[in-house]
Amino acid sequence: MRVYKIDDYVLKYRIGHPFETEAVIRDGEEIEKNTMDYFKISQATKLRLIYKMNTDDIVLGLGENQRGINKRGGIYESYCTDDPNHTPDKKSLYGAHNFLIVDGAETFGVFIDYPGRVTFDVGFTHKDYLEIIVDDNNLDIYIINGNNLKEIVKSFLKLVGQCYVPPKWAFGYQQCRWSYEDAAEVENIADSFIKNDIPCDAIYLDIDYMEDFKDFTISHERFPNFKAFVEKMKKKGFRLIPIIDAGVKIEKGYDVYEEGVANDFFCVDQDGKPFVGAVWPGRVHFPDFLNPEARKWFGLKYKTLLDCGIEGFWNDMNEPAIFYTDRGLNKAIKKAKKSEDENLNIYSFFELKDTFIKISNNLEDYKSFYHKVKGELVNHDKVHNLYGYNMTRAAAEGFEEIKPNKRVLIFSRSSYIGMHRYSGIWTGDNHSWWDHILLNIKMMPSLNMCGFLYSGADTGGFNGDANAELVTRWTQFSIFTPLFRNHSAMGTRNQEPFAFDEESKEIMKRAIELRYAIIPYIYSEYMKAVINWEVYFAPLVFEYDDEMSRKTEDQLLVGDSIMISPIYQENVTGRYVWVPEDMLLWKVKKYSDREYEIVKKGHRYLNVEIKEIPVFIRKNKMLILGKHAKNVESIDNRQLDIIAFIEDKTSYIYYDDDGKTYDFKKGKYSEIAIEIEKADGEFKINIDNRGNEKVQRLNFDICPFAKALIRAIFLKEKEKLYEKEKQWNFNAYYIFT
Ligand code: GLC
Repeated sequence: MRVYKIDDYVLKYRIGHPFETEAVIRDGEEIEKNTMDYFKISQATKLRLIYKMNTDDIVLGLGENQRGINKRGGIYESYCTDDPNHTPDKKSLYGAHNFLIVDGAETFGVFIDYPGRVTFDVGFTHKDYLEIIVDDNNLDIYIINGNNLKEIVKSFLKLVGQCYVPPKWAFGYQQCRWSYEDAAEVENIADSFIKNDIPCDAIYLDIDYMEDFKDFTISHERFPNFKAFVEKMKKKGFRLIPIIDAGVKIEKGYDVYEEGVANDFFCVDQDGKPFVGAVWPGRVHFPDFLNPEARKWFGLKYKTLLDCGIEGFWNDMNEPAIFYTDRGLNKAIKKAKKSEDENLNIYSFFELKDTFIKISNNLEDYKSFYHKVKGELVNHDKVHNLYGYNMTRAAAEGFEEIKPNKRVLIFSRSSYIGMHRYSGIWTGDNHSWWDHILLNIKMMPSLNMCGFLYSGADTGGFNGDANAELVTRWTQFSIFTPLFRNHSAMGTRNQEPFAFDEESKEIMKRAIELRYAIIPYIYSEYMKAVINWEVYFAPLVFEYDDEMSRKTEDQLLVGDSIMISPIYQENVTGRYVWVPEDMLLWKVKKYSDREYEIVKKGHRYLNVEIKEIPVFIRKNKMLILGKHAKNVESIDNRQLDIIAFIEDKTSYIYYDDDGKTYDFKKGKYSEIAIEIEKADGEFKINIDNRGNEKVQRLNFDICPFAKALIRAIFLKEKEKLYEKEKQWNFNAYYIFT
């Protein structure tokens, strides 16, 4: 074991000769050290790290996974898996996010940088033991120290690099469905948004847009004159987002296939021939994304679509999903034939059934193909979790070459830490189940801790039929997730906001309008999180150290100013909420209506009618909002509203930038710093505009104000001031001249 000091907080323990995953972007100096902090380590065929947990320790992180924000009690396996049934017993979903934090008697983070299978037994086998098991003796382990959860996450995010930033329009509402068949249907969906006056920024093209499910092709029959169609839709206000799958169809004359074979860009089997698996188009080859040349080749293929005016993509089936291989299929068919005349009993029937079920995403298949890395063959199983990461990296690197310094929307289904620098993720094929709203709520902060800020679930649920109430409540949560996309599977009930009754449509419309109104806040908080190495979604324990906040699993902090308590149960009109300090509650039915109440610290039962979205503004914090429009680019935010809840003093930095380029990395962005202080019967307001040329006026709603406090004083020259007493909040405005 060699030990490297990355900085005062982070140590890297290198065991054997690990595969370079490129998850981490920092190096360190080798130091003298023979033991690992916190963990007992045992190295037999597998490597085991063992930590004895304290009764009160909580364990956070692990990104895309089942169960709670606190991962205790569960066993999780990092092995990216295409499994659409996210039942609570599942150990692996689509991503592999090997970072967790133990918080309690000792507080530290650990990142297992190993691209094959890793098991995290977080008090499952024995309630007091955290055991991490790796199938190999070649890996890097990072231990991250810090005084609190926020510091540890910050150190970790600095270690793995700055998170991806999508174009600003990608913070708008997005509509997807597998089975929008042709241009006419896509346009019809767009027209329904227009007719119903519901904001929307993007409509997705699922596999139906391709010719025989071949990547980088367009069905001319279903989408004649694609480029003109993309243009037409953009004029209407919608961007089209096509899907790209990992498998390349084997078909003579298909350029991607031909070029891949000619240049040895596909993964190979044990005989050195391109490996064959089957996905949507039938038999395919899988590009070897671990080979930089193959990555470059595939990345530049996106140009075909970018040249048609496309500005965003979703990368799918990149675990990679394998429906079957000839090996597995033949084995199953043989077995079935043999069973033909048998009287199948409990054992033989289930064995036969299992053989078929296990044809897909079979471990033997993953073990039977290879990548070429620096001239050497590497078995796929050992680097399995890097596949989706590198497919998506290929895309991002391609975009940078084709459209330098232009933000392109990209998110992936499969992922590994490190991919967050290139792309966002969505959490794959969930169900239209109430439990999956809750799972979505719990997963968001865990993903954020692992670096994936641009993320979201299929709102309304992908598989199964949704009813109006479920889609409504889910939409009311998703208005806070950076990626806000409604998606459903072919054959299920339609679930667009207008697919149900009039009343539900109106309620969802109001929720989506609220989303657009708070984009100034969402975008500002997202960007500050990216720049300052912070999370956008946090569990309460990140800010509050009381016992309840450590245990709360169904409320989240969104950015620095607000807390949310979504409804995730059917037929309820309220829920219990833990209010960790006095907060200002704004129950939003329509965002132009402003009625607030102060909710005292403690356990509260909150009535939440189907029309209502509770937003809690934290003490001494501000929420900033503008107006909705049909899409993000049409928003007119020359006036912004500020809702402030002040005990004594508060400050907020409102961030903005061009929303289109990466110039913010060179410091090209604007800030408006707002400070409000309550003193001597007055609110003293200080506004410092650092380069924002869009905002002309700020309107203030300041709560609470007592009779004695009747004036707002702006500390800068040139201000105009208006003051009005309205029940118990105070209005004032400030005009930039
Ligand atoms: C996969 C994706 C899903 C998509 C479907 C068809 O199941 O996860 O989002 O709609 O494939 O492409």
